[in-house]
Amino acid sequence: MCGIIGIVGAAPVTDRLIDSLKRLEYRGYDSAGVAAVVDGHVERRRAKGKIRALEAVLDQEPLVGTVGIGHTRWATHGAPAERNAHPHRAGRVTLVHNGIIENYAELREELKAKGHTFESDTDTEVIAHLLDHTLDSGLEPLAALKATLDRLTGAYALGILIDGEDELVMGARRGSPLVVGHGQGEMFIGSDALAVGPFTNRITYLDEGDYVAIDHRGARIFDAAGAPVTRPERIVSAAAALVEKGNYRHFMEKEIHDQPDACQHTLSAYVDAVNAATVSPGVDFTKVDRLQIVACGTASYAGMIARYLFERLADLPCEVEIASEFRYRQPALAPGALALAVSQSGETADTLAALRWCKTRGIQTAALVNNHESTMAREADVLFPTHAGPEIGVASTKAFTSQVAALTAIAVSAARQRGRIDAHEEARLASILLETPRLIAQAIATEETVRQIAGDIAKARDVLYLGRGAMFPLALEGALKLKEISYIHAEGYAAGELKHGPIALVDEATPIIVIAPTDELFDKTASNMSEVIARGGRIVLITDEAGAAHAPEGARVIVAPACDPVIAPLVFAAPIQLLAYYVAVQKGADVDQPRNLAKSVTVE
Ligand code: F6R
Repeated sequence: MCGIIGIVGAAPVTDRLIDSLKRLEYRGYDSAGVAAVVDGHVERRRAKGKIRALEAVLDQEPLVGTVGIGHTRWATHGAPAERNAHPHRAGRVTLVHNGIIENYAELREELKAKGHTFESDTDTEVIAHLLDHTLDSGLEPLAALKATLDRLTGAYALGILIDGEDELVMGARRGSPLVVGHGQGEMFIGSDALAVGPFTNRITYLDEGDYVAIDHRGARIFDAAGAPVTRPERIVSAAAALVEKGNYRHFMEKEIHDQPDACQHTLSAYVDAVNAATVSPGVDFTKVDRLQIVACGTASYAGMIARYLFERLADLPCEVEIASEFRYRQPALAPGALALAVSQSGETADTLAALRWCKTRGIQTAALVNNHESTMAREADVLFPTHAGPEIGVASTKAFTSQVAALTAIAVSAARQRGRIDAHEEARLASILLETPRLIAQAIATEETVRQIAGDIAKARDVLYLGRGAMFPLALEGALKLKEISYIHAEGYAAGELKHGPIALVDEATPIIVIAPTDELFDKTASNMSEVIARGGRIVLITDEAGAAHAPEGARVIVAPACDPVIAPLVFAAPIQLLAYYVAVQKGADVDQPRNLAKSVTVE
């Protein structure tokens, strides 16, 4: 999951390549590189690390050309190092790649035997050599590209320059996204609409297996069989202005604060505020007898929260499974099932594969995605959009709460359709949902208390998170957030599981974060807190005012607003995210771009 950009410009392109790579940095930031046609031949500049390291290289050695490609990398094959940075080069070919070539080892041996010498440890370099080798046989660039693609197994989005073809950028996609951008006398390719957003809002999404040539005249697109095809051009909202930090130090901080708005926008698509009712999401839930949610990471926790609601409110059996397991498990799904992929990016490889698996078996599919132009959005039978806006921080925050908000409203709508609640109850729940943005804003106001507590947590080696009911997935989410941005080991447990093993970890050095709004399960969680205190454990209790009155002695308390249990996961998410954020800040960690991670995981 790297980011790629290609420009056939009317003016020098290096600054624009860099601007675009900054927008793509959420996809990876181990190394970066650009190449451009300079006086009839292709030159490249590369650097280990983030885009600013590449900018420093360019300050020393400027690159001036009007046709170029760029790449920001998330390492798969080969350590983050300049020699593994893209663009890769072989003979006349210079290219950038997002994806994984699965048969690279055998192709590499074959090409080595034919005299090719490799300079990197990447799977990508083999494509450059193979294409160069194919060009040697006398084929035109596009024919050589097609012949090369036919030999590749795996996933790719490519951007390619050829020495001697001064006004041509070629691209191709299979398993990794690629768009074509249409400008005024200029053309672009990029990993997504954000990449070309500053230059044009006229976008063509390439289909699986397509390859393309762009030059000043436009784009020539071919399908996997090599036939010329026309793909529709769309106007997309580039949302370029949304990709700014404003006055915040980090995107994550901004995105936590964006949540009241993000949830409001999302809910406006699912709740009719005037009539206090839900809006039908486009699925007839009376015909659905089982809901199968598939997702990865944080999105899977949104799905786990939704399961409580779909089963409780709508009496609809619901399974939630991590997509990377689901796709290989040969699950038994009957025709009445609805498969629902939950994904911020809409491009996560495992979730997409799980969705496709269901589709090929004739199961109705839906995709709850934040990127409405993504592959999942386009391939699912039904689109459930979230309207969180672009999320740049690698750790998901506003996308997560927007997913939970949308899923909660859809569960209410399903309950009404299935006759499990009447119009009066639907109106009550719709009104509760409409209170969410205000309550999230109040929950964010715990920030100062959370910041103080974070100072203590930052010293811990291990942290446990406990919750019951829908607070259990939130405990899992809290632990994931903390470990991914502060590198502190953390685990989430169902509070009732504590005594079945994890209690052995309890000592005075291990903070236990307990998420417990006052609900029907509060007393049970209070007993678990007593068990912890009795063993010298240190508790941070996240609760509401009534719960705070029952906090065990010595516990530190974060008081979130009281709310209906249906929206408690939405309201209680904010203090949990803030805690992870401030611990990471205390530790001086790279909050928005944690080590080893990338925002969009388009490889297995
Ligand atoms: C964690 C996080 C990841 C993503 C996961 C799925 O903060 O962001 O766990 O939730 O990689 O990504 P999407 O939602 O794009 O499918």
